[in-house]
Amino acid sequence: MKGWNREKVAAYSVGRLPSPADDCVVDILRGREHILEMGCGPAVVSGRLSASQLVCTDISEAFLPVARVNAPASTVLCADPVTLPFRDGVFDTVLAMAVLHHLEKSNLDTALQESCRVLKPRGWFLLLEDWSFTDPSPTELEAKKARFEKGQDEFHLTWAEWDSALGSAGFDLLKRQWPERLFGDPSEKRRVRMMAALYSRRL
Ligand SMILES: C[S@@+](CC[C@H](N)C(=O)[O-])C[C@H]1O[C@@H](n2cnc3c(N)ncnc32)[C@H](O)[C@@H]1O
Repeated sequence: MKGWNREKVAAYSVGRLPSPADDCVVDILRGREHILEMGCGPAVVSGRLSASQLVCTDISEAFLPVARVNAPASTVLCADPVTLPFRDGVFDTVLAMAVLHHLEKSNLDTALQESCRVLKPRGWFLLLEDWSFTDPSPTELEAKKARFEKGQDEFHLTWAEWDSALGSAGFDLLKRQWPERLFGDPSEKRRVRMMAALYSRRL
């Protein structure tokens, strides 16, 4: 099954805390007008964006009512990143935060081509992903072990592998930042870095 069931959606929506990585997205996307957030989940970040056109999609139907509450100014739709239901070149920005690691390689490549298709030339693709660093701190190493101790059914790539996949789909890297997010029990105040990589669609 693609996407998440109702129980997982409910647990994620309750546990999805605001983080410095969210602030980073809001800063980078200030002034962008036509934004698609794919894999929006509860749309915590989209709820903070101001854009004249904001579209939030998720493959898991159970997220859609939550997203509509958190991002009331947006249009919320059920959609698979592999087959985006939009015309060519309608967005100036696509945001994908902690979603693309759920796609196996062939679907990832198709989803990136789809993102390229729906973006205007020189449009922005902002990718946020976990566990992409190759120089973990002791805290991050421990967090990563704890996160994956029961195995890994996700496809996490290194920053260089993301650049390669995006490059093949028609994007060039503009900049990369490493904002933190909270990990585990908030009372522990443990933080790990996310990769925030901004790419531009080639002409
Ligand atoms: C970790 S959540 C991230 C949600 C949101 N972007 C955020 O930052 O809170 C992962 C998202 O990926 C979606 N997802 C899971 N498996 C998927 C798949 N195979 N194809 C597309 N989306 C998937 C889920 O529905 C969920 O919204």
